[in-house]
Amino acid sequence: MPYYRAVGEIPRKRHVQLRRPDGGLYAEELMGVEGFSSDSSLLYHTHLPTAIVKSEEVSDEAAAGPVTHNLPLAPRHFRTQDLPVGGDLVAGRQLLLGNEDLRIHFAAAQRPSELYRNSAGDEMIYIQNGCARFESAYGRIDAGPGDYVVVPAGTIHRWVPGEGQDDTPVRALVLEARGHIRTPRRYLSASGQFLEHAPYSERDLRGPDGPLLAEGQDVGVLVRNRAGLTRLSYANHPFDVVGWDGYLYPYAFNIADFEPVVKRTHAPPPVHQTFEGPNFVVCSFCPRPLDFDADAVPIPYNHHNVDSDEMMFYVAGDYSARSGSGIGIGSISLHPSGFTHGPQPGAVEAAVRGVAEGRTSTDETAVMIDTFRPLLLGPAARLAEDPGYAWSWARPVP
Ligand SMILES: [Fe+2]
Repeated sequence: MPYYRAVGEIPRKRHVQLRRPDGGLYAEELMGVEGFSSDSSLLYHTHLPTAIVKSEEVSDEAAAGPVTHNLPLAPRHFRTQDLPVGGDLVAGRQLLLGNEDLRIHFAAAQRPSELYRNSAGDEMIYIQNGCARFESAYGRIDAGPGDYVVVPAGTIHRWVPGEGQDDTPVRALVLEARGHIRTPRRYLSASGQFLEHAPYSERDLRGPDGPLLAEGQDVGVLVRNRAGLTRLSYANHPFDVVGWDGYLYPYAFNIADFEPVVKRTHAPPPVHQTFEGPNFVVCSFCPRPLDFDADAVPIPYNHHNVDSDEMMFYVAGDYSARSGSGIGIGSISLHPSGFTHGPQPGAVEAAVRGVAEGRTSTDETAVMIDTFRPLLLGPAARLAEDPGYAWSWARPVP
């Protein structure tokens, strides 16, 4: 998806012989989306990528969990700070929110995951804290705080926390899409180059830096497809790739590399858009100068986007529009369609006063996911909910 990349050893043309040192042929594998009609990559394996020796069904109950409609309708606040720590970045996912288009989980992982392939859709993992090594058939990406890691559907990979760090858990928001996560079309030229007005560019994206060339026999891979979960055992390690090229591969993008757009008066969230997927968008709210008109109200106005549910994950800085609501770092708010939301009581006056006293910038950092179908509540949302949030706008001005 991002742009053409070639890593390791590949033959001079597509679909010609590439031989191993022992004279045998490497096995070519195409990973592509939309039935040979969109982006793809060609990977060259030492062994056959088709050789499986066992297939076992795996219970999906823990991941799916009971989900319930957000009824009675209410804005909600979930404290991920209160969710349990442990497990890994795949099996340790705690379901917060979901609908037919995506599932949003939180994980506070301490252990390496098993090998995993999600062929039901792309995944986006946003790392709030901690560091992790992402290993895949395409190679390795070192990920840390503020990184979005976008994993194309079908990528066999695993997560290894704590690379170069102590035992700090990797706290991450995990978005599992039913479809593909892309750069917004309006940021790209007809041939896919990032345009000058885009808030990030090719130079900000970090792809895998080289093949892993792992060897092993009888290697288990947890596979999700649209039917459910299975564990396949591969005759040989799927990371036996000597080289690959194409447009389809996992990559990382750090939120600090997003160039915020500011206006003289308040700019709406589409200026912060980072990714898009089927029936959802992802936006990055980053430290930036405040709106600079002399009479500007430098925080959002009350708003009701009738076609969206809005989820906001507060990851750093001081989010002054939510002052007095109980929201802090690690909090997630859900503002559903049917509810007009806006700054907490007194926040507008405080923001205007702050500017008059010399404040010129905000250090808030947040990740927003807007969905065009209602978000249902998962078990982790019920576990981490702050029951008083819905009434916080009716409290007296502090
Ligand atoms: Fe909003």
